[in-house]
Amino acid sequence: MSKKILVTGGTGYIGSHTIIDLIENGFTPVSLDNGINSDASILEQVEQITGVKVKHYAVDLCDYDATRSIFEKESFDGVIHFAALKAVGESVAYPFKYFRNNLNSTLNALELSKEFGVKAFIFSSSCTVYGNVESSPVTESTPLMDAASPYGRTKQMGEQMIQDTIAENSLTKAIILRYFNPAGAHISGLIGEAPTNQALNLVPVITETAIGKRPSMSVFGTDYPTRDGSCIRDYIHVMDLAHAHTLALKSILDDQQQIPIEIYNLGIGAGASVLEVIHAFESVTGQALNYVITERRPGDVVAIYANYEKAKTQLSWEPKYNIEDIMRTAWDWEIKRSKL
Ligand code: UD1
Repeated sequence: MSKKILVTGGTGYIGSHTIIDLIENGFTPVSLDNGINSDASILEQVEQITGVKVKHYAVDLCDYDATRSIFEKESFDGVIHFAALKAVGESVAYPFKYFRNNLNSTLNALELSKEFGVKAFIFSSSCTVYGNVESSPVTESTPLMDAASPYGRTKQMGEQMIQDTIAENSLTKAIILRYFNPAGAHISGLIGEAPTNQALNLVPVITETAIGKRPSMSVFGTDYPTRDGSCIRDYIHVMDLAHAHTLALKSILDDQQQIPIEIYNLGIGAGASVLEVIHAFESVTGQALNYVITERRPGDVVAIYANYEKAKTQLSWEPKYNIEDIMRTAWDWEIKRSKL
């Protein structure tokens, strides 16, 4: 029988793309989302792509009783926990909001997974847990520095909750996935990043500027010690990232994982600077972008990219898409979205 997987944050950006990959690999995803930064109508596009109508609970994961009743009703083989607030700058301004939301939701998802004997718990973490690293690429054993923001701290604390609760003899095994910079959209152009709040991440800011939703955009600093002075990140296509979740689930459900908790970095293993990303967009789309160089953004890390050898060896995961694919799919989605 098809294995049932709870996807928290199922109507969000990475959650919705992962639901597609799960369906394509024979799983039955069930979505849960409070809709504070996404719209459940995205599941109609998911149905158009996959032919499958996904069951959805419009529930806040921080609501323990409401979440518990879902665990009572359904019998989950796995939980993929995406639901979280993720704006670095906002977390500096409103730290309590971030602690309350990201920690309570993780606590509920984790505690209920353990109580109901869910076999696999996959946690959406971030390269932000490494803090301002001295050199890249970073491996999973690179020591974690102080978090650069309350958002980053909630991801570190989420990881610690898992470390403290998933023990050697636990029925539940866990995988922590540390994403670098997810970007791009599904190749169909039917779904992509569609935050209901204002987009702040680089790639949607670029596409929104190019389509005219913003008059221009800022490059936050070109005085960093990097090859062109702008910050370096590891941009990973959202469908590559989505597939890593399916492989992570399988490794636990198929009893491939011997130890209670594994951690994997997910990036493409190469850095691109902000200016290089902009130039990739311009060359792929033929659109000139209106940008200005401004001050550094507080809380930004200078340069970080991944070593993903562990995911390659243990999960047989390898990224298929590059920065040009990211820009092409993100642009297709922006054009489509502007006509909706
Ligand atoms: C950060 C976290 C990442 C987290 C993500 C969630 C780090 C290293 N990374 O990503 O783990 O998942 O937030 O949102 O902490 N930029 C511009 N102009 C813009 C927007 C961005 O120049 O309008 C630049 C930024 O300064 C940065 C790069 O583009 O150098 C990427 O920024 P962004 O897309 O916001 O992601 P991160 O801050 O790297």
